[in-house]
Amino acid sequence: MDWGMKNRFSRIIRPENERCVMLAVDHGYFLGPTEKLENPRETIQPLLKYADSLMLTRGVLRTSVIPESNTPIVLRVSGGSSIVGEDLSKETIVTSIEEALRLNASCLALSIFVGSKYEFQTLKNLSRLVNEGEKYGIPVLAVTAVGKEMTRDARYLGLACRVAAELGAHLVKTYYCEDFTKVVDGCPVPVIIAGGKKLEEKEALKLTFDAISNGASGVDMGRNIWQSENPVAMIKAVRAIVHDNHDVESAFQLYEENSRSNTSLKTARKKKATTIQN
Ligand code: R5P
Repeated sequence: MDWGMKNRFSRIIRPENERCVMLAVDHGYFLGPTEKLENPRETIQPLLKYADSLMLTRGVLRTSVIPESNTPIVLRVSGGSSIVGEDLSKETIVTSIEEALRLNASCLALSIFVGSKYEFQTLKNLSRLVNEGEKYGIPVLAVTAVGKEMTRDARYLGLACRVAAELGAHLVKTYYCEDFTKVVDGCPVPVIIAGGKKLEEKEALKLTFDAISNGASGVDMGRNIWQSENPVAMIKAVRAIVHDNHDVESAFQLYEENSRSNTSLKTARKKKATTIQN
């Protein structure tokens, strides 16, 4: 890796512990206004300072994040299909490398759909993006998207991650599964996990803990943070596992403590507002 590439990469995976907490808010690019992400600015703002990096599209970046923010950007540059369209795997590169540079992206993200109808096209997209990224020193995160018909097991996810790494991805995002170490061991670049659908907070923390214990370098988590009752408390608890080696129980305790203090803060603010009005 040259200097620029290394520098950008170290903004995504922290060099001191080789871990990362990436906050994913890119769901709208195919899902539209996802629950609790209807107003991205409102969702992102309180969480920004707790995220090591932010994964999103250029549209949400420009409209919903202040340019003075210092949080590294992972720019999703693939798209072109929606949940109501013909086939979700039919993606192309929708944002140019020049635009990514103008937006000061630290990393580019693109989905690959291994085993799908458009596998070839999405793998070609990845190869092209890696070539462009190498030219300008921007790392590429390959997102191993899983179609409904694919089984999320170590064999399939291991295959998808390995293919992504072989094509030059610098970092791979996948899903946690049984025998996850096989996925990590077969992939020569760092692997991070998506949170997936909203779970109970403790379950999501267990997922995080299991992934980290089995070799994941961190999380690229969205819904399990911002769809939580207490998103700030949740991201803090996830950080405690990823960066401070907390176990599930102590991270959940932290979540509950932070949720309580957040609720009393809100109540105090409401009381104060009512007193002023009266
Ligand atoms: C898919 O929409 C994106 O790649 C998400 O960034 C990814 O799935 C992570 O978000 P979540 O934790 O909500 O699954």
